[in-house]
Amino acid sequence: MDMKKLAGKEAAEYVQDGMLVGLGTGSTAYHMVNAVGERVKNGLRIQAIPTSKATEEQARALGIPLLGIDEIDHVDLCIDGVDEIDPAFNAIKGGGGALYREKVVASLAREVIWIMDESKLVDQIGAFPLPVEIAQYGAKQAIAKMEGYGWNPVLRVRDGKTFVTDNGNFIADLQLGAGFAIEDVKTKLDGIVGVLEHGLFLNMCKRILVGCADGTVKTIENESK
Ligand code: 5RP
Repeated sequence: MDMKKLAGKEAAEYVQDGMLVGLGTGSTAYHMVNAVGERVKNGLRIQAIPTSKATEEQARALGIPLLGIDEIDHVDLCIDGVDEIDPAFNAIKGGGGALYREKVVASLAREVIWIMDESKLVDQIGAFPLPVEIAQYGAKQAIAKMEGYGWNPVLRVRDGKTFVTDNGNFIADLQLGAGFAIEDVKTKLDGIVGVLEHGLFLNMCKRILVGCADGTVKTIENESK
């Protein structure tokens, strides 16, 4: 079976009756949402908050009861994909452009599970470009600032057009390279006007579920959580 599907299906088993569940975005989360939908069809009683319009549409079609961000004050369990994660559970997310809502929902969660295939496990994050969500107004200046830091930002383009997030903003993808100084970049990003959020999700998860080529799912617990 597809490694992403293995992880997604296994993650759905962590959802329990009565939970408010954060539903992630991307091709791995897609399988998890389908599996949660199947359980809802079979009687699981939950409410959920989606992290993107795409996931909202998928979950609604599956009959998963949804709440809006203004209706919640916490999330019991958030399950989402990652683009890269290191042994200290520092992750890069946002390859699908949903990082802002993903971070809002994950930050409200009592427990976070990241799901992935083996390719996402790395010794050092940074080979995957770090997505940064920036306001359209002042984007040119924010990108110039990032260029000044030597981060080689690339304004994200899809189908020949500048990519616009569900929140109406742009994404700059930073080419940092594996082993970049995580805290330094984070601090500098936090100080740039126009940066709304970035894809550094540092030590946020309680466990990761990794779908493996041999058909198993490896569970790695974060003992610091
Ligand atoms: C979307 C994300 C995704 O979770 C991340 O890009 C992983 O995607 P996939 O499961 O398709 O590999 O952060 O913004």
